[in-house]
Amino acid sequence: MTKEEFDKFDDDYEVCNCMGVTLKEIKDAIKNGCDTIDAIMDETDAGTACQRCQSLDEDDEEEKDIHLSEILKFSK
Ligand code: FES
Repeated sequence: MTKEEFDKFDDDYEVCNCMGVTLKEIKDAIKNGCDTIDAIMDETDAGTACQRCQSLDEDDEEEKDIHLSEILKFSK
């Protein structure tokens, strides 16, 4: 994913469907100091169920359009 593609996602986009966590909630967690996927998971519960939204490594079938790993990369 490129930064341009990342920027097209609205803040209310639901990144983690299992736990109902939006892009804004994840961006806020990063702003508040979460700098690893584990920290984001602890703070928001995103990624704690099926785990596919964590990263492409966890998402073999590429079911998710965006992952915590990419949000972390582009929100820093
Ligand atoms: S979509 Fe995030 S844990 Fe399943």
